[in-house]
Amino acid sequence: MIEIQRLPFWPAVRLPYRLARASVQLTVDRALGVQTTLLRNELDTSLDQPADFIHGPVGWTTLWRIFRWLAPTEGDVLYDVGSGNGRPLLVAGRFPFRRLVGIELAKRMHEEAEANLARCRLRGKAPVELINGDALTQPIPDGTSIVFFANPFDGIIFDRFIAHLLADLDQRPRRLRFVYYNPREHAKLEATGRFRLVHRFAGLRPTENWSRMMTTHFYEVLPRPTAD
Ligand SMILES: C[S@@+](CC[C@H](N)C(=O)[O-])C[C@H]1O[C@@H](n2cnc3c(N)ncnc32)[C@H](O)[C@@H]1O
Repeated sequence: MIEIQRLPFWPAVRLPYRLARASVQLTVDRALGVQTTLLRNELDTSLDQPADFIHGPVGWTTLWRIFRWLAPTEGDVLYDVGSGNGRPLLVAGRFPFRRLVGIELAKRMHEEAEANLARCRLRGKAPVELINGDALTQPIPDGTSIVFFANPFDGIIFDRFIAHLLADLDQRPRRLRFVYYNPREHAKLEATGRFRLVHRFAGLRPTENWSRMMTTHFYEVLPRPTAD
């Protein structure tokens, strides 16, 4: 792939492209009466994350594609891990879930999510619960059938969360799907032998790294293999 950022015109194109994209996101915000468009690091804890770990929201159209592909039903419970200021839950609310649960560590983001859900012009179809807490210690919500994971963390924290999720599935066997946006730790999921990649949306961006950040993986989480 041509590394477009090495081409001479790239610095001139990059900023206008980003501004154009942000203005689309802001237009949707305005139409819905919410404020979800930002690019700032809200993680106000001492968690060990790379310095370039940006806590930006997933694009409106990407979210719409994701939930449309998932085709949830009234039996499904969504668990949005690192729910930010609520954009994915606003989109998921247009689909027929039984329940939506979002967990967010940063208090300010959690409060913004509460405000966004309260003032959104489009009413959601399913009840939403917002938790201000740590996904590593919070029990997995009852009946969770889809985990939405827009790369809130990686590294050792990721390992611990996946162990927590698998322990819950082993205790309460059920169908479980895992949606992973910007799948930095795909290799780790594969190595568990428990995550089967069933579909992916490729990120369409001019550079390899940027495309990977915009990619979404859909996994089926498999039951623990029996001993015999
Ligand atoms: C990339 S943002 C995603 C925001 C949201 N999913 C969206 O698309 O609008 C990741 C969020 O995960 C939160 N987060 C990081 N570690 C967390 C943890 N251990 N438990 C809960 N939330 C966490 C961050 O505070 C941040 O708001």
